Amino acid sequence: MIILANWKAYVETADQAKTLFAAAKRLASRTKTRIVLAPPSPLLGMLAPGNKSSVSFCAQDVSQTLGGAYTGETTAQLCAQMGASYALVGHSERRALGDSQAVVAEKLGHAVAQGLTPVLCVGERERDASGAYLGFIREQLTSALEPLSPKERSAVLVAYEPLWAIGKSAAESITPLDLSEMILYIRKVLAELLPGKSAGRTKVLYGGAVEAENIRGLAGAASVDGFLVGHASVDAKTFSALIRALS
Ligand code: PGA
Repeated sequence: MIILANWKAYVETADQAKTLFAAAKRLASRTKTRIVLAPPSPLLGMLAPGNKSSVSFCAQDVSQTLGGAYTGETTAQLCAQMGASYALVGHSERRALGDSQAVVAEKLGHAVAQGLTPVLCVGERERDASGAYLGFIREQLTSALEPLSPKERSAVLVAYEPLWAIGKSAAESITPLDLSEMILYIRKVLAELLPGKSAGRTKVLYGGAVEAENIRGLAGAASVDGFLVGHASVDAKTFSALIRALS
């Protein structure tokens, strides 16, 4: 299982970042869980260079552009050079700030080109009885993956994060049954987009109100490969409880 800790902008001091990194290293040495940390860029630059531990790093986003006159942007190349091995692309909080499908596709391309494993985030705002949300997920996957070559598509990891669950408590999260259904659907769409058997190898994560209380149940969902964890990943005690609940 992969646990990707998305620190968002919750972590705002170097001390908190160091404490969380130390806790992650301890946990990684005791469990089989693969721990990936996604800190804000300056903290990525502080923690990831020279990292030799089994904890990996993920950029929270990459710029749509390559280097140049783009104030405020951080390129995929720089993230990779700092020591990130993964990059979130298309997180709903970035989409809410203006990342269109075309921008997400471009960012995905930059991440792949720099050897980062992109974590493509998809998810519906709400569910409707007629199942229109499934078409929405299909569209998000298709528009992001289609511009990539078949080989590049195989390098992408998918994170299903329904917006209605993000930031909520475990009680309001998705049920294991609904998660199983959605992952099967995502795999069906991936099978249409990826060559041969490679769709079966694509890792699919779930994110949205994952806490120590529900992680074990959700881990029982059909073919989920791990979790993207936001608020429950930014306190060392809460995060340890979550990893322990999984192992
Ligand atoms: P959450 O966030 O765990 O706080 O719901 C998950 C995410 O947005 O990646």
